[in-house]
Amino acid sequence: LFAFAQTVIDPTRNARVVCPNPFYQIYEGAAILAGATPVYGQPESWEGVQLAYACSPANPSGRVMPLEEWRALFELSDRYGFIIASDECYSEIYFDTPPLGALEAARKLGRSYDRLVVFSSLSKRSNAPGMRSGFVAGDAALIAKFLLYRTYHGSAMSLSVQRASIAAWKDEAHVRENRRLYAEKFRAVLPLIRSPLETRMPDGAFYLWVRTPIDDAEFARRLYAQQNVLVLPGSFLARTVGGANPGARHVRIALVASLEECLEAARRIMRFAQSL
Ligand SMILES: Cc1ncc(COP(=O)(O)O)c(C=O)c1O
Repeated sequence: LFAFAQTVIDPTRNARVVCPNPFYQIYEGAAILAGATPVYGQPESWEGVQLAYACSPANPSGRVMPLEEWRALFELSDRYGFIIASDECYSEIYFDTPPLGALEAARKLGRSYDRLVVFSSLSKRSNAPGMRSGFVAGDAALIAKFLLYRTYHGSAMSLSVQRASIAAWKDEAHVRENRRLYAEKFRAVLPLIRSPLETRMPDGAFYLWVRTPIDDAEFARRLYAQQNVLVLPGSFLARTVGGANPGARHVRIALVASLEECLEAARRIMRFAQSL
């Protein structure tokens, strides 16, 4: 996701890169280091936009982009000529039906894959974030440029990581088991968190995006001090636009520990929230 921006941005033309807001912060760093200006959320004008990141299911909200949003984004891309980088690393963490992907959306809408590239990863489906292993698919001309760039920046994968990746991609049983475990954790944790706080079941991914009755950083600090539970303040995952930070008054809770630990943490969060 980072390297791709370095490949496609032309910084001599006042480049702008659109990121969702809140968002995974690599998009912002990628834009800045490529010599572009990041734009957070829906821009007022798409003039000068060279690249737009999408994230579905989204970190941190767990929201899946519906077909109509893809249609609108594709139309903008066709009009203004920008590239869409669709971050789909949570695509295999879902609860009933697999989420719509960008390539699937393009196909359903009878559109080509021009200016569209999707990024997948082993890190969530196989619990292997340290491997930094995934695949990229979509517009062949863009992928050819990206491949050339990768040969120069020297991030070729070691043979051991390649072999482990092949084993992980070949096996679906552990991915199904992973999904079952997340579903079990959400079933157990959601009613506890929901009783004092406002949240909803995500469409995908493994986060609860929870409204906080007090400032989110304050909530996270006091929860850690009083209950030894770590959550991420939502305002740290977003940027202020027009005087408002869309992550404010939210925290992201990741259900990545064991069922027992998640349940214990949920009980502590519940106790803490009730004390506010
Ligand atoms: C939205 C999003 N994209 C990408 C990544 C990184 O994936 P990888 O571990 O494959 O580099 C993460 C990891 O947290 C993420 O949340």
